[in-house]
Amino acid sequence: MTLPIAVLVSGSGSNLQSIIDRIEEGVLDAEIKLVISNKPGAYGIERAQNHDIPHRVLLHTDYRSREAFDEAMMEAIRESGVDETGVVVMAGFMRIVTPGFLKAFEHRVINIHPALLPSFAGVHGQSDAADYGVKISGCTVHFVDEEMDHGPVIIQAAVPCQAGEDGDVLGSRILKLEHRVFPQALQWLAEERLVIEGRHVRLKVSGQPCATQPMADVQPNTCALVWPPLEKGF
Ligand code: GAR
Repeated sequence: MTLPIAVLVSGSGSNLQSIIDRIEEGVLDAEIKLVISNKPGAYGIERAQNHDIPHRVLLHTDYRSREAFDEAMMEAIRESGVDETGVVVMAGFMRIVTPGFLKAFEHRVINIHPALLPSFAGVHGQSDAADYGVKISGCTVHFVDEEMDHGPVIIQAAVPCQAGEDGDVLGSRILKLEHRVFPQALQWLAEERLVIEGRHVRLKVSGQPCATQPMADVQPNTCALVWPPLEKGF
């Protein structure tokens, strides 16, 4: 079944673009029913326009509370045709969503973070990692829970860090991988292959019952930095 999704953005929307591109290439079986931005002038909205995707700008500053803003998003998302069978994708959406929002889309909200969680949560994941001087950083796609950058991890990709490079340089290297792992995570959701077991997310091997990822079968050069490994087309 084609996965109905709503994408939330606050900025450039390059992750949104990677999702659009994989859908148009036919490797991601999803349909973007709505793009919402909470920031005026976010380039993500222009990207939606360019591809005739329904879009809304909902400014959180127009609402009296966090709950009221999330209620408005919920209504817009439901009206667009995304229900409990769909997924809400936080693609550079720089806001924490309320428990009410998470309850409405239980286990159906995913986020991408530009660091290897639980390290460097927050809004400056790339520069916090660069400033700390870590040798490896990366990105994480995870289910969203009530804590910031905290829910069960779906996929992580690691990149090496160079001494002295800043968050922008590291961030651009990480972003390239974000554009691969995020659509891949969505395709696993479309194929109903992700099973949440407490903090753990198990990936069902295609067409098989739930099993441990077969590490021995993976080519060494694909398993080094992305886990679970990317599949064909991603
Ligand atoms: C991405 O790097 C994403 O991981 C990050 O914002 C950027 C959005 O870029 N998200 C967070 O930091 C969330 N804590 P994009 O608008 O070009 O997709």
